[in-house]
Amino acid sequence: MADKDKVFIFDTTMRDGEQSPGASMSLEEKIQISRVFDELGIDIIEAGFPIASPGDFEAVSAISKVLKKSIPCGLARHSKKDIDRCYEALKHASRFRIHTFISTSPLHMKHKLNKTPEQVYESIKEHVSYARNLTDDVEWSCEDGTRTDMDYMCKTVELAIKSGAKTINIPDTVGYTVPSEFTKIIETLLNKVPNIDKAILSTHCHNDLGLAVANSLAGVQAGARQIECTINGIGERAGNAALEEVVMAIRTRNDLMPYETGINTTLLSKASKLVSNVTGFPVQFNKAIVGKNAFAHESGIHQDGMLKNRNTYEIMTPESVGVKQTSLVMGKHSGRHAFKDKLISLGYADLTDDVIENAFGKFKILADKKKHIYDEDIIALVDDSLVVDNKANKIILKSLKVFAGTGEPQKAEMKLDIDGQIKSASETGDGPVDAIFKCIKNLYPHDVNLQLYQVHAVTEGTDAQATVSVRIEENGKTTVGQAADTDTLVASANAYIAALNKMIIKRDKTAPMMEQEKEKVRGI
Ligand code: KIV
Ligand code: ZN
Repeated sequence: MADKDKVFIFDTTMRDGEQSPGASMSLEEKIQISRVFDELGIDIIEAGFPIASPGDFEAVSAISKVLKKSIPCGLARHSKKDIDRCYEALKHASRFRIHTFISTSPLHMKHKLNKTPEQVYESIKEHVSYARNLTDDVEWSCEDGTRTDMDYMCKTVELAIKSGAKTINIPDTVGYTVPSEFTKIIETLLNKVPNIDKAILSTHCHNDLGLAVANSLAGVQAGARQIECTINGIGERAGNAALEEVVMAIRTRNDLMPYETGINTTLLSKASKLVSNVTGFPVQFNKAIVGKNAFAHESGIHQDGMLKNRNTYEIMTPESVGVKQTSLVMGKHSGRHAFKDKLISLGYADLTDDVIENAFGKFKILADKKKHIYDEDIIALVDDSLVVDNKANKIILKSLKVFAGTGEPQKAEMKLDIDGQIKSASETGDGPVDAIFKCIKNLYPHDVNLQLYQVHAVTEGTDAQATVSVRIEENGKTTVGQAADTDTLVASANAYIAALNKMIIKRDKTAPMMEQEKEKVRGI
């Protein structure tokens, strides 16, 4: 494939995506996501903003060590300290990218940076060449690009390329542009910047007007060859362009957009589920490509047409994005070997023997309770084993009894293992979940805000497993816990405990000052 026809996919789920309020991810989760992204075929992974906090630094550094094909990238403002920190986090990788940015719109230069256009111009020379001395893969972004004067943008882009940037990113920071305008911006840069052939132009579109994907594709049709995007479109405010949507649009309308991405589209569904699980952000049912209903045909006329010829109402197959027909997979007589094979077919190739053994035990218990076990059940069960049985957990649920129903106040009796010591409590509450959460608070006193409590049935039927997501917040830090069980109340207790265990780890790892600084950095 000639580079000219290739559109590079730059994922920023773990940087811009993580800037969605409440979407914080732990180090382990980021590593898990990175492995899937690497397999997915993402070209460049923006792993974080290393100066923002020790946690961000550690994550970028760890991710840069696990990627096999994708190029790791870190974000840095125009500051030598930022760029050095970015370099320190990435330097272990054989190839890495430093992405440095500064605002170029009159509004941002005056009110945010308090700098003149000349000062910003000088800063480009100084900081892009500084980054270029540390790596030959430098990306430069003109923040608020779509509200920047075009002549000034051309001058700054020319200088950034002259100073060593190989990728020039044009952010629609506030999601303000429309496809026709964005087309003109890219065309103007291609026509007016004398050294533009020495760089790749990139799009970075936010979704405030619901146009992020349309604007990104318009940019590519005008000549951009990199799209910055996030899985499920998560990101600041209304989010970023959704990776799965831009990729499938290019693939499905290749007659109009004859470009290729290196994405293995059959992993899109897996990546979407993983990001949704980790962030606790549900994917809306009618979300293009990865929503639960994206391939469901309800109306009789459509179903009839589908039976005669799938092309009547299907522009891409569910299989092409990794959606498999729900299948009855296993029963209580299935053995270890079949279970392990199933895990591999579901994409869990590198689980440790401990995790497999544990999940197999849970599978047997589930098979006794539930008549039909589906792929989704196995996935929920393994994901649950990975979270609940994590050796780093301080708190483990030992037993739970709940008394619910009409008349009496709801009551929970609980035993927890906290640092190896068994403690018990009993609490009443405003509903069984409230009673359960009060027990946890009683046994391990803490002060967090519950931001989200959400229940999903994994499959159909009243014997379905429930996946519960809980997001808690403490001093501006958030964590998400998830757990699955056929008993929704057991899943609720485990999900809350999982969020709390993560918060305890986060507390230990992040100094409070740095966390405040992180907010300040992100707010610039
Ligand atoms: O939206 C934006 O402008 C950004 C830049 C840092 C690239 O995220
Ligand atoms: Zn952005």
